[in-house]
Amino acid sequence: MPLEMNDPADNRPAPSHGDLASEIRRRRTFAIISHPDAGKTTLTEKLLLYGGAIHMAGSIKSRKATRYATSDWMEIERQRGISVTSSALQFEYDGFAINLLDTPGHKDFSEDTYRTLEAADSVIMLLDGAKGIEPQTLKLFEVARLRNLPIVTFINKVDRESLPPLTLLSEIEKNLSIRAFPKNWPVGMGRTFRGVFDLSRRRAHLYSAREHGGARSEEEIVGGNDPKLDAILSEIGLQSEFWDELELLDADAGIWDDGQFKSGNVTPVFFGSALNNFGVEVFLKSFLDLSPSPGPHMSDMGPIPPDNEHFSGFIFKIQANMDPQHRDRFAFLRICSGRFRKGMSARNVNTGQEVRLSKTLQFMGQKRESVEEAFPGDIIGLHDPGIFHIGDTLAEKGDFVYEGIPHFSPEFFVRVQIADPLKRKHLRKGLFQIAEEGAIQIFTLDTEGERDVLVGAVGQLQFDVLKFRLEHEYKVRAKLEPMNYDRVRWVTGNPEMVANLSSTLDTLLVYDREKMPVALFRNEWALRYVVDKYPSIGFHGTSPRTFRKGTANRS
Ligand code: G4P
Repeated sequence: MPLEMNDPADNRPAPSHGDLASEIRRRRTFAIISHPDAGKTTLTEKLLLYGGAIHMAGSIKSRKATRYATSDWMEIERQRGISVTSSALQFEYDGFAINLLDTPGHKDFSEDTYRTLEAADSVIMLLDGAKGIEPQTLKLFEVARLRNLPIVTFINKVDRESLPPLTLLSEIEKNLSIRAFPKNWPVGMGRTFRGVFDLSRRRAHLYSAREHGGARSEEEIVGGNDPKLDAILSEIGLQSEFWDELELLDADAGIWDDGQFKSGNVTPVFFGSALNNFGVEVFLKSFLDLSPSPGPHMSDMGPIPPDNEHFSGFIFKIQANMDPQHRDRFAFLRICSGRFRKGMSARNVNTGQEVRLSKTLQFMGQKRESVEEAFPGDIIGLHDPGIFHIGDTLAEKGDFVYEGIPHFSPEFFVRVQIADPLKRKHLRKGLFQIAEEGAIQIFTLDTEGERDVLVGAVGQLQFDVLKFRLEHEYKVRAKLEPMNYDRVRWVTGNPEMVANLSSTLDTLLVYDREKMPVALFRNEWALRYVVDKYPSIGFHGTSPRTFRKGTANRS
């Protein structure tokens, strides 16, 4: 294992003087991707505790209760009995300004979850040590991969019986086709778990049980040659096995290549236990050191650097009716360049409309606060009287638009029917507005969108939400008839040939809201058959990214 001398703790950003360059340098904007129950809530809570954004004792018993208390939106979600939003929390740690994008943690998720990754500069992939790669992690990983985001892996719950660490590494490499580069190694596992060994600095972080409810655990750092480490290893019966494994890792690891990490080809791997606070703070420090600060974002006029002096950003999420009393709507904007100041004006380049940004929110731990000033990497919520759309670019100056946000393949489809034809207009309005928020996607059988409307979603839960919202917000009772398609591909190629795709029984050609042709397939077999039969047609798992200007195609 090569020795890396740079100590993350020494690599913290120089104190900011409030200038654009140093504010950018100290920002980290990331999301945690995981399968439900891997420990995302627990880890998030620990990160917020270190950052001082929340002050509770972190006791397990209060965790679920505090989870709802930390955000009043979540309370609304709880009342609805669902969790459909994802938000961003901002907190400070060790000189860094951190934006943690929170992706919903329940089993059934929406496109929103995927889209959150559009606003991230890096990702923490959280795995349960006993389970390895699980389906939801895999799906989210693929989206992170699409964007070549740097991915840092945290293997959690090593205080429980887990898969052997070497098996976990090879599972990551095999299932995700990414190189796994261990940065630390567990000293024992399950009941014998005693800490983690820092592979680059050759020293062990040994933990003792934390105080009940305490935020941090006791930690002792000892060198690799320290007799205390040997004593612990022999006490847990691992003395030779541990060093043998390390030798194996040393022989296999090669040299850490930051470029390969930044382009998403190698993932540094850390072990720990979020619940017991073992290895979490060292992980956070290393993560902040490894992960990139905001970089340039691609626009139709080339990449826009974050230190471009003019404010710009794009909308990646719209959340309506956060407060049922007011039916308000917020658009979430990721700042890509310049300095945001409350009350400033910017142009929605996609619609040409000038907007004054005076009602803005940011989320600091428990509170939603009005934002006075913000920088690239930050996420702000803009009050939206219905003028923003997902993917819109806002810019103080200039006529560029950022790359559009793709749609991700839905896996479930329904045909929407209503008993009362006089309500058709209401239905369309409801469907298109809800689709605008991105939880569902709308497809039509013809390019004019006059015939039947089909709705696709990434998770079944979205249909329950849709039905509920149509009824309560738009006063339309709709019947959602399941359709037997579960594979989707956006298609590109010769239009005549594309039109032919509907000729097989197991395939249906529809159009998305941008009038892009989309093929639905009944099963994997039907998809394979068509892909093989039409080699000149392009089949894409997400809608092609476009640079969209003007109000055309808006519903
Ligand atoms: P999620 O947001 O990813 O769905 O996971 P969450 O943090 O809610 O954690 C899921 C379960 O795993 C919780 O237990 C939590 O206490 C436990 N857990 C999280 N990290 C660790 C860890 O490092 N070690 C161990 N042993 N357990 C961990 P639960 O019983 O479902 O919830 P609760 O009743 O404890 O609140």
